[in-house]
Amino acid sequence: MLRPLLLLSALIGLLPGAEQQHVGSATLNISSCPISYYGEQFTTLYVTATDEVFTACFDIIGVDCIVGPPLEIFFFFDEVSENEADWHPSLPDISSSLLCSVELKAFSGLFPVSLKISSFGSQAAVKLETGSLGPHEFEFVANGDSVGSVNLTNTGPIYKDISACRQSGGLYFYDDEVSSDPDTCSTESCDSVATIQPNDICGPLERCHGNNTCMFVSICTVTGPAVIDFNDQLKTVEDRCGYTLLTGSSIQNLTVVANFQERRRRDVSFLDSVTLRLQGQDDVHLEQGGVVKEGNTVLTINGSTDLGNGVEVFVDPTGVTVTVSHPESTTSVFFDGNTAQIIFIGPAGQDPDLGGLCANSTSVSDERLPEDIGSSCEVQYNDTADSSINCTMMTERCNLLLEEPFTACHNHTDPESYIDACIDTLCKYPAVDGLNCQFQEAYARSCSLRSSNDTLDSWRSTVGCSPPQPFCQGRICSDHEFCAETISGGIGCFCRAIFAFPYRSNDTLGDPTVCEENSASVTLVGCLLEEKGLDYTMLHLNDPTCTGQRDELDHMVTFSYNGSNTCGTEVMANNSQLIYMNSVTVLNSSSDNITRQDQVYIDFSCVFTQPDVNTVTFRIKDSSVIEKITSGTWNYTLTMKAYTDAGRTQAVDSNTEVQLNQQIWVELETDGLDDGLVALVTDSCWAADQAESLRYNLIVDGCANPDDQTVNVVGNGAGTSNYFSFNMFQFSRSSSEVSVHCKVNLCANLNQTCTPDCSGGLRKRRSAGSKYLDEAPAFISMTWTN
Ligand SMILES: *[C@@H]1O[C@H](CO)[C@@H](O)[C@H](O)[C@H]1NC(C)=O
Ligand SMILES: *[C@@H]1O[C@H](CO)[C@@H](O)[C@H](O)[C@H]1NC(C)=O
Ligand SMILES: *[C@@H]1O[C@H](CO)[C@@H](O)[C@H](O)[C@H]1NC(C)=O
Ligand SMILES: *[C@@H]1O[C@H](CO)[C@@H](O)[C@H](O)[C@H]1NC(C)=O
Ligand SMILES: *[C@@H]1O[C@H](CO)[C@@H](O)[C@H](O)[C@H]1NC(C)=O
Ligand SMILES: *[C@@H]1O[C@H](CO)[C@@H](O)[C@H](O)[C@H]1NC(C)=O
Ligand SMILES: *[C@@H]1O[C@H](CO)[C@@H](O)[C@H](O)[C@H]1NC(C)=O
Ligand SMILES: *[C@@H]1O[C@H](CO)[C@@H](O)[C@H](O)[C@H]1NC(C)=O
Ligand SMILES: *[C@@H]1O[C@H](CO)[C@@H](O)[C@H](O)[C@H]1NC(C)=O
Ligand SMILES: *[C@@H]1O[C@H](CO)[C@@H](O)[C@H](O)[C@H]1NC(C)=O
Ligand SMILES: *[C@@H]1O[C@H](CO)[C@@H](O)[C@H](O)[C@H]1NC(C)=O
Ligand SMILES: *[C@@H]1O[C@H](CO)[C@@H](O)[C@H](O)[C@H]1NC(C)=O
Repeated sequence: MLRPLLLLSALIGLLPGAEQQHVGSATLNISSCPISYYGEQFTTLYVTATDEVFTACFDIIGVDCIVGPPLEIFFFFDEVSENEADWHPSLPDISSSLLCSVELKAFSGLFPVSLKISSFGSQAAVKLETGSLGPHEFEFVANGDSVGSVNLTNTGPIYKDISACRQSGGLYFYDDEVSSDPDTCSTESCDSVATIQPNDICGPLERCHGNNTCMFVSICTVTGPAVIDFNDQLKTVEDRCGYTLLTGSSIQNLTVVANFQERRRRDVSFLDSVTLRLQGQDDVHLEQGGVVKEGNTVLTINGSTDLGNGVEVFVDPTGVTVTVSHPESTTSVFFDGNTAQIIFIGPAGQDPDLGGLCANSTSVSDERLPEDIGSSCEVQYNDTADSSINCTMMTERCNLLLEEPFTACHNHTDPESYIDACIDTLCKYPAVDGLNCQFQEAYARSCSLRSSNDTLDSWRSTVGCSPPQPFCQGRICSDHEFCAETISGGIGCFCRAIFAFPYRSNDTLGDPTVCEENSASVTLVGCLLEEKGLDYTMLHLNDPTCTGQRDELDHMVTFSYNGSNTCGTEVMANNSQLIYMNSVTVLNSSSDNITRQDQVYIDFSCVFTQPDVNTVTFRIKDSSVIEKITSGTWNYTLTMKAYTDAGRTQAVDSNTEVQLNQQIWVELETDGLDDGLVALVTDSCWAADQAESLRYNLIVDGCANPDDQTVNVVGNGAGTSNYFSFNMFQFSRSSSEVSVHCKVNLCANLNQTCTPDCSGGLRKRRSAGSKYLDEAPAFISMTWTN
C-alpha cells in the first residue's frame, strides 16, 4: 500500500489548494463552499472509502449521498480552481455562475478517480473523471431515493447536474409544479435555477375565480366630470345629464347610470349619484351622504344586505358597494359620493354585448339619457375663470401620480388618464371639498382593485391626503344643494351654482318679500346662509322671539308675521305710502363678548300705496255700500250710506239727483261690534275722480279738512257709527264721476280716548297703531255719477 501513496503524494503536491489525506472515513467541512445537493444546502461531507464501498454523503444518516465503487484512500481539496467554461457546455440547465468547487480524489488501484462538486448558487453539478478503464458506476441518492447514475470510464470527464428543488420531503426538478391551490389560482414550481417560485395562474388584468379559473377584471372609474373606461380612455362629461355607464344582455340587462350635477361652478359637472336598473326589480340608487335607496325606500344598511337575485349591498366607512352576480360574470359598483368604480369580472376578452361609457367611451353623447333629469340638462354654461387657481401648481400636484409610491401600480394601471382628468378639473375648479386628493384616491383604489398586493399604504402621507372618511355621511342635502366643506372646517349643504345664480347676481340671500294684507313673509335660501356661515337659528325679526322656520325638505327659511303678532314691525307713513318695516338680523346674545357671525341686516319691508290696500272700489251707483270686514278678532259689517238731510232719513238712491254744492250726510255704520269695547274711528275720507288721479280730502286724521268749511264730522270715535257732511262738488276738468273713499279703524273704547282731538292747529298727529285694535284699517267707497 505504501508505494502508490508516495507516488500520489508526489502527484498531488503539484495541485493548488489545501489538501487533506484520509483513510477510511472522514467528516469534511465544506462551509467555505456550501453545496445545494438536489435542493438542499449542505456544509458538511461525510466520506467513507473502504474496499467495499465509496460514499460521499451530505448528511450523517446517509440519505443524500453519491455512492461509488470501492475506493481506498482519498484526498480532499476544499479550494479548487475550476475553469467555468469547461462546465457549462455539458450542463445546459445550469445558467448561474460557478461560485466554488471542492474535490475528492480517490484511488482505484493506481488510477485516480476525481469527484469535483461545484456550487452554482441554488444549482450545483458534479464532474467525474478517471484514468482507469472502468466502468465505475456512481449512483446519486437524494432523500433516500436513487435519482440517477453514471458509468465512469477513462474516455473523458462526466458532468452531472445535481440541482433540484425540495419541499416537504418531495423532490422537484426543473419546471416541476411543487404545489397548487385552485382556490387562489396559485402554484409553486421549481424554476430554471432550482428555486421554488410562486406563480399566479391569472394574469395582471385577471382575478382568480376558484378551481384555477381566472376571470378578466375590467375597471372603469368615474370621478368628478371624468370617465376612465375599461380601456383606460378618458372622456369628460360637460353637462348635467344621466349617462349609461354599463349595460348589456349578458349582464341580464343590468344598467348602471351615472347622474351628473354641477357644484360650485356652472361649467364643471360632477358625478352626483349612481343608479342601478335591475331587471324585474326596483332601481337601486346610490346617492350623496351614503344614502342607498331601493326604489323610493331609503335602506339602513349595517355591513351587507342581500337584496335578492344576486344583488348584494355592502357599506363600510369608505363607501357603498353593490355587487350583482350574473351566471358568467360579476359586476360591482362602488360609490363614495365623489367617485364611482365599476368592476366587471367576466371571461377573458371584451364582451361584445356590453355597452355604455365604461365599455367604450368613444361617443359620449350616445350614452346620454336626457329624459332622466329633464331636457335642460344639456345646456352648457360659461362661467368666468377662477383667477385664484394656480394651474402650474395643480399640474405639479396631479403629476405626483408619476412618482413613488404610485410607480408600483404603473405596470397594470396606467396613470395617464387619471393625471389628465386631474389637471383638466383642478385648473378650472378650486381644489376644495377633498378634490385635491380625489384623483389620487381614485387611482390608488383602482390599483388595489387590480392587484390586492399593491395597497400603496404610504401614498396618503407622501402626498398629504387623509384616509378616506365617510364624507358627508348621514348629511342629506336637497336637490339644489351639494355637500361641501364650510369655511369653519365642518360640512354643510351649499347651493348648486345654477340654482344660486339668480340670487348671487342680485346679491340677495332669498326671494323678495311677499306682502299681503296684515301679513308679510320673506324666504331666505338655507344653502346661501350656510355658505356665508350663518346659522339660521340665530336670525330673527325685530322681535327676537320671531325666528325663522326651516323647511326640512328644501331647507328654505321663512320669516313671517301676521296681523295678530307683528314681530316688532314698525309702520311708517310716507306721503301716500304706508311702509311696514322689519328686518332679519342676528341674535345678539348679550352674554357673548365676541361673535363669529357676520352682521346681518336683511331689510324686510312692505310698502303699500294706500289706494291699493283693501280698496274695493265698488263702482255701484247705489245709495249704500256694505262690506264685511274681519279685523283681528272682530267680524263686522261696515255700511256707508248717503242722505240729503241731517236726520238721515232721506237716503240718496240711484234716482236721487244730487246737485252741486248740495249738502250731503254720509253715515258710516257698523253691525256686529260691541260698542262697549270698540269704537269706530273714521280716520280719513277723500274724494277721487274716476282715474283716481285727483284727490280731495274731506277728513284728515279723524278731523274735518280745515280748509273746507263745509265738512263737518259728527260722533267720530264715540260709538260704533258716525257720520259727516259735506257739500257736493265735482272735479274740474275731469270726468263726471266722484268716488268717496273712507278709511276707518277700530279703537279700544275703554276710556273714551278714541275721539280724535280736532282742536285746531295744535292738533297732533296720532302715532299710527298706538291705540287701534288692528293696524290694518278698513276702506269703503261709494261712487256718484251724474
Ligand atoms: C452502467 O453499467 C451497468 C453495467 O454494465 C449497466 O447495468 C447500467 O445500466 C449502466 N448505467 C448507465 C447509466 O449507463
Ligand atoms: C373545475 O374546472 C374543470 C375544468 O377546468 C371542470 O371540469 C370542473 O368541473 C371544475 N370544478 C368545479 C368544482 O367547478
Ligand atoms: C334584455 O332586454 C331585451 C330587450 O328589452 C330582452 O329582449 C331580453 O329578454 C332581456 N334579457 C334578459 C336576460 O332579461
Ligand atoms: C368604440 O366605439 C367606436 C364607435 O363608436 C368604435 O369605432 C371603436 O372601435 C370602439 N372601441 C372599442 C374598444 O370597442
Ligand atoms: C364659452 O366661451 C368660450 C370662449 O369665450 C367659447 O368658445 C364657447 O363657445 C363658450 N361656450 C358656451 C357654451 O357658451
Ligand atoms: C404657481 O405655482 C408655482 C409652483 O408652485 C409657483 O412657482 C408660481 O409662483 C405660482 N404662481 C402664482 C401666480 O402664484
Ligand atoms: C414592471 O414591469 C417591468 C417590465 O415588465 C419590470 O421590469 C418591473 O420590475 C415591473 N415593476 C413592478 C413594480 O412590478
Ligand atoms: C406581495 O408583496 C409581498 C411583499 O412586498 C411579496 O413578498 C409577495 O411576493 C407579493 N405577492 C404577490 C402575489 O405579488
Ligand atoms: C333678480 O333681479 C331680477 C331683476 O332685477 C328679478 O327679475 C329677479 O326676480 C331677481 N331674482 C331674485 C331671486 O330675487
Ligand atoms: C365679557 O367681558 C366682561 C367685561 O370685560 C367680563 O366681565 C365677562 O366675564 C366676559 N364674558 C365672557 C363670557 O367672557
Ligand atoms: C266672520 O263671519 C263670517 C260669516 O258669518 C264667517 O264665515 C267667518 O268665519 C267669520 N270670521 C271670524 C274671524 O270670525
Ligand atoms: C281708564 O281710566 C282710568 C281712570 O281714569 C285709568 O285708571 C285707566 O288706566 C284708563 N285705562 C286706559 C286703557 O287708558
